[in-house]
Amino acid sequence: MCGIIGYTGTLQAKDVLINGLKRMEYRGYDSAGIAVQKNGALSVVHRVGKVAGLEETVASMDLEGTCGVGHTRWATHGKPTEANAHPHTSCAGDIAVVHNGIIENFASLKEELIAAGHTFTSETDTEVVAHLVEENYEGDLLAATRAAVRRLAGAYGIAVVCEQEPGVIIAARKDSPIIVGKGKTGALVASDIVALIDETRDVVVLEDDTFAKLQCKDGETTIDYYDLYGNPVEVEAIHVDWDISAAEKGGYPDFMLKEIYDQPRTVRDTLAGRLVNGHLQFDELALTPEELAAIDRVYIIACGTSYHAGLIAKNLIEMWSRIPCEVEVASEFRYRNPIITPSTLVVAVSQSGETADTLAAIRDARIKGAKVFGITNVVGSPVARESDGVIYIKANKEIAVAATKSFLGQVAALTMLAMLLGQIKGGLTTAQIRMLFRELADTALQIEQILADTSAIDEAAAACKDATSALFIGRGIGATICYEGALKLKEISYLHAEAYAAGEMKHGPIALLHEGFPVIAVATKSPTYDKVVSNIQESKARGALIVAIATEGDEDIKKHADYVIYVPKVRDCFSAITASVPLQLFARSIALLRGCDVDQPRNLAKSVTVE
Ligand code: F6R
Repeated sequence: MCGIIGYTGTLQAKDVLINGLKRMEYRGYDSAGIAVQKNGALSVVHRVGKVAGLEETVASMDLEGTCGVGHTRWATHGKPTEANAHPHTSCAGDIAVVHNGIIENFASLKEELIAAGHTFTSETDTEVVAHLVEENYEGDLLAATRAAVRRLAGAYGIAVVCEQEPGVIIAARKDSPIIVGKGKTGALVASDIVALIDETRDVVVLEDDTFAKLQCKDGETTIDYYDLYGNPVEVEAIHVDWDISAAEKGGYPDFMLKEIYDQPRTVRDTLAGRLVNGHLQFDELALTPEELAAIDRVYIIACGTSYHAGLIAKNLIEMWSRIPCEVEVASEFRYRNPIITPSTLVVAVSQSGETADTLAAIRDARIKGAKVFGITNVVGSPVARESDGVIYIKANKEIAVAATKSFLGQVAALTMLAMLLGQIKGGLTTAQIRMLFRELADTALQIEQILADTSAIDEAAAACKDATSALFIGRGIGATICYEGALKLKEISYLHAEAYAAGEMKHGPIALLHEGFPVIAVATKSPTYDKVVSNIQESKARGALIVAIATEGDEDIKKHADYVIYVPKVRDCFSAITASVPLQLFARSIALLRGCDVDQPRNLAKSVTVE
């Protein structure tokens, strides 16, 4: 959720920290702060609001120093105020801490520390870490941090500096990402690779209960790694090969639009190299053909948009392999007692690879004996590391909070997984696999066609922008697309939207309709097309304003809809890919017309690392 950064080197730390925080702002943006060390002495600055506000504040300040830590916050404990913004300091103000995660036992620790004479100035869980380090400090920041984190329950990624040890940063983690790297001018630590990439492409993804000591002394940078007991440990670096332009807007007005236009490439790259001689190649799944053949139940667990990708996949898995497939939000799955046996396959889908509920569900499923496949966008992420096998989608960095290209990457990867299971279970022949794969690959071209002219989408958006509520309806694959379309609309435009299987309209939601109420219908050619048209007519008869997503060449639909957005003709199962694109653009267009920040919607964060 929050983004943390630390730098020690030869550059002015405030510039490196602000730059890194801007890159990580998608992780949280309700307040920000930095602590910079000059000859040891710490200066701490906080600001409510986005990093740009902090940047403005520090621009006029004398904040010299080449070591420091910074934070961009998504509030969990305590409102977004200056007092609650990180870095948090000890009583003496000589220790500063930035933290991402949640300290579950902070209340009891706070009580204990207050009884021991500590005074607190914020409502946050993080402040206890600064006081615990202070309580344990005896001239060795590493030892004090080790002692402090032993008392913590919950999830944390932290970076700590203290006045007594100029140029030193201690970083630690548990269930929250920490990336460390030695760059051209110094050493960095952050919650995301994107903050390090200007300095280095060789990074270490810190393991749980491992500590990094970053130090710059007389221009010489060192990074050492230790375990919980202070013993040195060996770590392995990974090389990041994606382009930094992935984290910059590249001429687009916002990241969301850039990422929508990056979807044809995402689909192509996700499919690249997967079909060899009519056989799908997923060696990284680490299951033998016999083990795959034994699978008799599939669970897809995920949250939000990733969950919607799962709903689409259920249709394909059951259609092609006839294996029963359930899709469940991870926050429910983890607290139920689902039926899992060693022949159950659990597929965990997560763009960030960090979502707390999805991770908890993976752990639970593995304890119960299931094989777990992860589908994620982030190399080395917790989902990747904790799954038995992982398929990486090739979306590259996704910055806008609303998922777009990662969704299409997930759908493409899940479609291939469904085809693989279909082939193994005998539901699909090699010839059918080749044909389906070719059609799946063609969707990249079809998305380009949709993106080439978006005027019909903008017109429909302009007609709906002042509504207070909207309904998305469809059937089969069309219904699953609607769930995602409604989520996109509400999260970035704050226009209330709901998705319904169109056949359910007359069981309740139709009561909502009145003159001008927007109904967005996914009415692409499918076996249930006529039924959807009937549902559109029922809505129209109640005065609804109809926006139809329809298949190119369908002239008839114009009789029933006020606005028609055409998408190229594809096999029904691939309409999830093509028809989702106009719905993303529709949501963005309405959000902009309503004056919303499409990249950083209120109250949201890109990585949900808390329950
Ligand atoms: C919506 C959105 C969220 C995420 C959800 C899961 O646009 O981005 O609903 O899909 O928070 O995140 P991941 O996929 O990172 O597990």
